[in-house]
Amino acid sequence: MNETLKTLKERRSIRQYKKEQITDEQLNLILEAGTYAPTGMGQQSPIMVVVQDEKTIKELSKMNADVIGTDTDTDPFYGAPTVVVVFADRGCIPTYVEDGSLVMGNLMNAAHAVGVDSCWIHRAKEVFESERGQDLLKEWGIKGDYVGVGNCVLGYRDCEYPQAEERKENYIVRV
Ligand SMILES: Cc1cc2nc3c(=O)[nH]c(=O)nc-3n(C[C@H](O)[C@H](O)[C@H](O)COP(=O)(O)O)c2cc1C
Repeated sequence: MNETLKTLKERRSIRQYKKEQITDEQLNLILEAGTYAPTGMGQQSPIMVVVQDEKTIKELSKMNADVIGTDTDTDPFYGAPTVVVVFADRGCIPTYVEDGSLVMGNLMNAAHAVGVDSCWIHRAKEVFESERGQDLLKEWGIKGDYVGVGNCVLGYRDCEYPQAEERKENYIVRV
């Protein structure tokens, strides 16, 4: 099978990670693929913030869990050692959410292509709308009307590789 199509079909969301960090080479390839996602009118509205500092990941994980509002011991990032938070500039173009989502897709598929596991973790919007989230954006020197689109966690899995669910019968409608 064509390698690209194989990657697209075989990528799965991973929900248990080793502590071991991915290599810079892998990270750079994944991020570069993110920058080549299509964007509305080619405006490149998204940005990717790479977080590898354990303390910051813990804080983001806690903020994320607080949005869920469940058990505070839950780690929504599943122990992943790298989190790429994708934001998109609302002031740039109305397609900012779609732009950011395609970046997320590229990150996850590129990760799989270079032997890194990943998962989209939601609630970046709520986390970065909060007061602390806004402060973090300031600390990171990010100016503009940036909205959190998703967190792409990256690492090496510490579990069996999951099977894809059956594709639903009416996924494709030919008219
Ligand atoms: C918009 C979006 C939000 C998601 N949020 C989460 C999340 O917060 N936590 C999580 O474990 N998985 C999350 N996922 C992953 C999905 O649950 C996963 O893609 C789906 O179960 C299909 O599995 P697969 O990615 O292995 O094909 C999200 C996926 C998308 C596209």
